[in-house]
Amino acid sequence: MKLNRLIGKHRFLGRTQAQVAITQRRVRVDGVIVCDGQHRVDQFTTVTLDEELVQQAESALYLMLHKPVGYLSATRDAVHPTVMDLIDLDEKDSLHLAGRLDRATSGLVLLSNDGRWTESITSPQSSVRKVYLVETAEPMKESDVAAFAAGFYFHTEDITTLPCELEILEDHRARLTLQEGRYHQIKRMFHRVGNRVKSLHRERIGSLSLPPELAPGSWRRLTEDEVKSFGDG
Ligand code: URA
Repeated sequence: MKLNRLIGKHRFLGRTQAQVAITQRRVRVDGVIVCDGQHRVDQFTTVTLDEELVQQAESALYLMLHKPVGYLSATRDAVHPTVMDLIDLDEKDSLHLAGRLDRATSGLVLLSNDGRWTESITSPQSSVRKVYLVETAEPMKESDVAAFAAGFYFHTEDITTLPCELEILEDHRARLTLQEGRYHQIKRMFHRVGNRVKSLHRERIGSLSLPPELAPGSWRRLTEDEVKSFGDG
């Protein structure tokens, strides 16, 4: 949001009065006088007018979680436990997920209250790669590799999936890398080659791997470098 809009909402000042106050050097952003009404602020900025608090900065939260099988990637649900039930933080209500996993899928999930950051990971334009370990009911075929690389047309969404890299590890086990996250995408792609996913585990998002010491159901805060490893962070 622009600074003059935030100040304008404060005590119903209005945008014109807000601009006057800004030009008169009465507004500080994170302690520094800002004279440009177009200056962008978000929920992580502290703003004062005449030394009076207009907005207190929220602290940004960035977490990784090892989602166990059986938990929903949702904030609340009447029937099933959700990933939020695993987080014991007072501020957890402000968190949202950077991409969902199916209930039967385990592995790395990222959460934050910074919408721009989660968007940089999940938006269709982002090319953040997600890596999964897949176990299938039937043995995989060498021809599957080319089929996944070519993409599959999904008529319900009228899209062709972006090229995926399928690395067959054993007859029924593979590592799959994709750059997007369509609804049940992996299950639907295997269905197309006449196979069925028996288990699915996300081991990596971008350059961030699920640490082996992070047990299913556990979470930890991301380090500053880990946050920054996703473009905008
Ligand atoms: N694709 C799926 O089918 N399920 C997931 O949980 C993630 C990707």
